[in-house]
Amino acid sequence: MTDPSHYRVDAYAKVTGRAEYAADVKPQGCLIALALRAVMGPARIVAIDTAKACALTGVVDVFTHEDADRLGWKSTPAIDALSAEHLGRDALGDAASKGPAYRPLISQEVLFAGQWIAIVVAETIEIAREALSLMQVELAAWTPPQSFPIWPGPFFAGDMQHAFDTTRTIGPLTIYQRETYQTPMQLHQPMEPTATTAIWQGGRVTLHDSTQGVQAVRDYVAASLDLSADKVRVQSPYVGGGFGAKNQVWPHQALAAHLARVIGRPVCMQLTRADMAVASGHRSETRQIVELEADAQGRLGLLRHESHVPTSLKGGFFEPCGLNSLLLYKAARIEVSHHVTRHPIPTPTPFRAPGETPGSFALETALDELACKLGQDPVALRMQNFATRDHYHQRAWSSNDLSECYRLGAERIGWHLRNPTPRQRERDGRLVGLGMATTAYPAPALPASVRLSLSDAGALRVETSATDIGTGMRTLLAQQVIATLGVNPADVEVVLGDSTLPDAPTAGRSKSTASVLPAAAQACRALLTTLDQWDPHPPGNTALHERLRRAGRHELTVEGRSAGLSADKGLSFYSFGAHFVEVELDEPISRLRVTRVVSAIDCGRILNQRLATSQIRGGVTFGIGMAIMEHGLRHPASNRILTDNFADYAVPVHADVPEIEVVFSNKSDAAMNELGARGVGEIGLPGLAAAIGNAAFNACGRRGRSLPLSPEALCCPRDLRG
Ligand code: MOS
Repeated sequence: MTDPSHYRVDAYAKVTGRAEYAADVKPQGCLIALALRAVMGPARIVAIDTAKACALTGVVDVFTHEDADRLGWKSTPAIDALSAEHLGRDALGDAASKGPAYRPLISQEVLFAGQWIAIVVAETIEIAREALSLMQVELAAWTPPQSFPIWPGPFFAGDMQHAFDTTRTIGPLTIYQRETYQTPMQLHQPMEPTATTAIWQGGRVTLHDSTQGVQAVRDYVAASLDLSADKVRVQSPYVGGGFGAKNQVWPHQALAAHLARVIGRPVCMQLTRADMAVASGHRSETRQIVELEADAQGRLGLLRHESHVPTSLKGGFFEPCGLNSLLLYKAARIEVSHHVTRHPIPTPTPFRAPGETPGSFALETALDELACKLGQDPVALRMQNFATRDHYHQRAWSSNDLSECYRLGAERIGWHLRNPTPRQRERDGRLVGLGMATTAYPAPALPASVRLSLSDAGALRVETSATDIGTGMRTLLAQQVIATLGVNPADVEVVLGDSTLPDAPTAGRSKSTASVLPAAAQACRALLTTLDQWDPHPPGNTALHERLRRAGRHELTVEGRSAGLSADKGLSFYSFGAHFVEVELDEPISRLRVTRVVSAIDCGRILNQRLATSQIRGGVTFGIGMAIMEHGLRHPASNRILTDNFADYAVPVHADVPEIEVVFSNKSDAAMNELGARGVGEIGLPGLAAAIGNAAFNACGRRGRSLPLSPEALCCPRDLRG
């Protein structure tokens, strides 16, 4: 193992293909299960003829809603209690403890196009695929009963959220602006498609899964099987990206276990990209109206942010676009509302920086428009309205280095060279523009545990159920114990993503580092304390194994626990940053390219520069996709998702991604935890699309208020005439 402060400890296993992902686990006799998706919805199943599929050699079984009893597949109060019906602002962090909003294969009801209506189980994936093509389905259009609860939340949706800063004195309001912004449906596209392999042995099942949270999966699957949680083990040692698609629990994880139980052989439930589009969540489209009122100095009198977002017929998650607007800037009056409506669509779910990402596109574009009207620099406008405390929650920030981020980012991109008047800079015949935007994201932390096991026989084991979804958790833990305990990198083994290991929260909402690392620090102290008690007088640099031997012991196991954050600290924990972007627009063909990005980020103290930088680069890459490529579409009649594959849904590739310079203010957040570190994950994404749009405006003088920024929005009508 090389020095983990410089390299990922699992890099070698990953690039050599030795790291085993969920669908790589194919024990002897393992079968493949694939789902059949309804081609339209809402609908009722009139008939499904499975005869031809069943007759195909190599097909082991076929299941429809008529086989629910045989599968032991039902809806119970215990299962429903785990469903995600009431997700709102404060519940976002617990999204992962929730089960799916619905169960397919329960009845004839098809709530949305793409819902699974049958499962085929076969010897190979090719046979399973052929069997799907032999299924004969008759669907009838169906209007769902009105008995589905409309949005039940007592607050937040429908109700206006207010924040006031009564101390604010401003001049006469001279500028009023009201614009509408739109963002499209987006589909998570982690590199590893979702899959679950279920293996039964003596009344217990082990799931090899791809999830952000093994313990949440265990709890849901155990409830579904009507077993105690200790009969279900979930392992997810490597996860090829999650971004929220693997944050909640989905039906397939339980289905795999039910299928393997009834058939009596291991089953791998494999989701295709098309399945993922309907069965592992998405970010919904949004329509947002931002109203701003300001005095001649750019001081905000009113900031009003109204969001219109859909959710599914069952389930309650919606994109909470206006959250940052409540607290990121100072205004005499702030009004935020969310209007949620039910539609026959798959359930939207968390998607990297849910809420803040589309919300910041609207707010940060609106601020750029205001700056133009005022003739004020966009950075100066933001500093003019800098929120020195969280007025909405009436708390001080635990730490806020945003102004330093503005300074650092502006310096690195060469902001002083920007001409505020559009169309003034050219390079190689292309228009050049600079733009910026703010990013902010909550910094939560939940209780977590880490176990250290030292034995005379081998490596120091570091164990927790936390997952590493590509963020670098395995590396951070190794780095931590190596630095604290002075052990050899080669003598450390980190074991993650197993539900039987000590508790840890789901990897989501950028909270893993701040939750798990303090527990590891605690465990290191506990280990040293015990060794000191056993043998108080070893020479200062005695190795751990030697201390164990001197004490006449063979092993030592300790556990460290972190408490997480609670509101009673009386502080608001947020991360902040500023993106600065340069674009080039080839105006005659209306091609926009992002040519440079500088992201200046405040995530508290940075524990590993390389990993943290990689996280921000990932977020920026997401933002480039969001700004100019990603566009999820549904068929207007059938509601089927048309862009459920990589041919019809564009994401950035290497050639689309320019140099991304990441700079951290690296200011320790002492109130956060003993490490001074907040999480680094989602913060890289919010604001980026707005920064690109603002740069595009600076280049060509045309404003795109709808994502992705289209050629039509960025070229003038003369260009279109040719
Ligand atoms: Mo993330 S969108 O909090 O899984």
